[in-house]
Amino acid sequence: DSIHAQLSVFVDHVKEFIATTPTSRLILLALVNLPIISIILNVIYQLLPRDKSKPPLVWHWIPIFGSAAAYGQDPIKFFLDCRDKYGNVFSFILLGRRVTVALGPDGNNFIMGGKHTVMSAEDAYTHLTTPVFGKDVVYDCPNELLMEQKKFVKYGLRNDNFRAYVGMIEDEVLQFMNKDSSFRAYQMNDINEWGSFDVLHAISEITILTASRTLQGKEVRDALDKTYAQVYADLDGGFTPLHWLFPHLPLPSYRKRDAAHKKMSQFYIDIIQKRRESGNQSEVDMIAALMDQKYRNGKILQDHEIAHIMIALLMAGQHTSSATGSWILLHLADKPEVAEALYQEQVKHFRQPDGSWRSMQYEEIRELPVLDCVIRETLRMHPPIHSIMRKARSDVPVPRTLAAPSEDGTYVVPQGDILLSSAAVSQVDPLLWRNSFEWDPTRWNDPEGVAQQAYKQYDDANGQKVDFGFGLVSKGTESPYQPFGAGRHRCIGEQFAYLQLSTVLATLIRRVELRLDHPVPGPNYQTMIILPKTPRNILYRRREFD
Ligand code: HEM
Repeated sequence: DSIHAQLSVFVDHVKEFIATTPTSRLILLALVNLPIISIILNVIYQLLPRDKSKPPLVWHWIPIFGSAAAYGQDPIKFFLDCRDKYGNVFSFILLGRRVTVALGPDGNNFIMGGKHTVMSAEDAYTHLTTPVFGKDVVYDCPNELLMEQKKFVKYGLRNDNFRAYVGMIEDEVLQFMNKDSSFRAYQMNDINEWGSFDVLHAISEITILTASRTLQGKEVRDALDKTYAQVYADLDGGFTPLHWLFPHLPLPSYRKRDAAHKKMSQFYIDIIQKRRESGNQSEVDMIAALMDQKYRNGKILQDHEIAHIMIALLMAGQHTSSATGSWILLHLADKPEVAEALYQEQVKHFRQPDGSWRSMQYEEIRELPVLDCVIRETLRMHPPIHSIMRKARSDVPVPRTLAAPSEDGTYVVPQGDILLSSAAVSQVDPLLWRNSFEWDPTRWNDPEGVAQQAYKQYDDANGQKVDFGFGLVSKGTESPYQPFGAGRHRCIGEQFAYLQLSTVLATLIRRVELRLDHPVPGPNYQTMIILPKTPRNILYRRREFD
C-alpha cells in the first residue's frame, strides 16, 4: 500500500511537471535523456524472460552498439569468455546486427558444413566484396556460378604452372634483397653488419611482387612500379571491417574505393583485349587460364568477369599470405634454434658441393618436414581470418549435440542472423591443444598427437572427399584445424600459398640469420586480416656461406 501511495505521489509530480513545462522543453529533455532511456529499456529487455528457443544473448549495456568493443578489440578472448558464460552457441549484438556464434569442432561443422541455401556466404559478404571485386563474380552471382568460377581458377592453379613459379618467386625475392633499402646491410656483403626491416612492410612487398610475377601475370608485374600500386592501395582501403558494417558512407575511402575499382577493372580488361588481339597464348598465368574456360552452359567468360575474378584473387591472396609470412618470420627470429633447423634442412637438400644453392623443385617442397611444420604451426596460431560469416536465409535449428536449452529443447537461429564460425578459436582452444598459445612447430611431429589428428581430419585421411563443383576436396568441416576454411567455400589458394610462402622463406633463410630484440608482437584485430602490431622490426645479418 505504501509503495502504491508513493507511486501515485510520483505520478502526480510527473503530471504536474508535464503540465507546467513548455512542450519545447519537454521534447528537449526527452531527447537529451534518450540514450539513458534506451539503455534502461535495453537492460529491462534483457532481464525479461526470453524465448527459450533462441540462443543466449551476450549481456550488453548499450543498445545497437552491443558487444562491438569487446569483439573488435580481441575476438578470440571475447569468444572464449562468452563460451565460459553461455556455452558453445550464443548471440551478440554488433552495431545493430545479431550475430550467432557456434564454437568448437561441432560448431565449425554446423556452419562450415551447413547447406548453402540456408546459410549464405553471398548474403553475408556481398556488400563488402562487390564494390571492390565488381559485378557478376564471387558473391555477386548465384552460388552455383561461384563454384564454376572456383573450378576455372583451380585450372590456373595446376601443378604444371606451379613448377614454373618456384624459380620466378626465388628470383623476385633475390632481386628484392639485392635492391630494397630495408636490406642495405645484406647488400653491404659484410657478415658482421646487422640490419633491420619492418617485417609486414617487407613481406607485403615481396608477396605482391611474387604473386604478380606468377599468377597475376607479366603486365601486372610491369605495372607494379607505376600507377598500379596506388590504385591497389585505394582499393584495399575500401576492404575493411568498417566497409563491411557500412557499405556506403560519404567518406573519402568509399569514393577512392569506387574510383579504384573502375580503374583496376579497366586495367585488366585492356590486358585481356590486347592479348586477344595479338594472339598471345604463351603465358602461364591466371588471365591465360581464365581466357580458356567456358561455363557449363557453353558461354565463355566475359572480359569484365575475368577482370573481376583477377581482382578477387588479388584481394584474397595478398593480405592472407603477407600476414602469414610476417608471423612466420617473427617467430623464427624469436626462436633462432627453429630457424637454424630450417636452415640446416635447406643445406641438407639443396646446398651443392661447390657451395652454391640449387632451386627447390615444386614436388620437393612438401617433403621438407621442418618447413612444413613451421607454416602449419603459424597458420594454427595466426590464421589470417578470425571470423567466417554466413547469413541465415531461414530459421536454422542447432543440432542438440552442439548446444541445447534443456533436455528436450532445441535452439533455433532466427532468419536474418549472421552465423559466425571461428577456427581461430578452435585452433588455440586450451581444451583441445597442449600449451595452445605457444608457437611450437614440433607439436606436428607426433603422429598420435592432437595436431596430426586434427590435420588428418582436415585433409581427410578417410577419403571423405566431396565435389561441390570445383573438383574433389576434403570436406574437413569437423576438424578443429581449418585455416583455409572447409566445405564448399574452402580456399582454393592453399597450394599456391604454401608454394609462395615456402619459396620466399627458403630463399630468405638460406641467406640471412634472424633475431628479435623485442617479444613477438600481439595481433591487431582491427584490420580485415589479423596482422602483427608494431614494433615488428626483425634484425638480420648475412650468413657466412651465402
Ligand atoms: C576462401 C584462407 C590464400 C583464394 C578462403 C577461406 C579461408 C581462406 C579461411 C574460406 C572463407 C569462407 O568460408 O568464408 C586463406 C589463407 C590464405 C589464403 C589462410 C593464405 C595463407 C589464398 C590465395 C588465393 C585464395 C593465395 C588465390 C590465389 C580464395 C578463394 C576462396 C578462398 C577463391 C573461396 C571463397 C568462397 O568460396 O567463398 N581462403 N586463403 N586464398 N580463398 Fe583463400
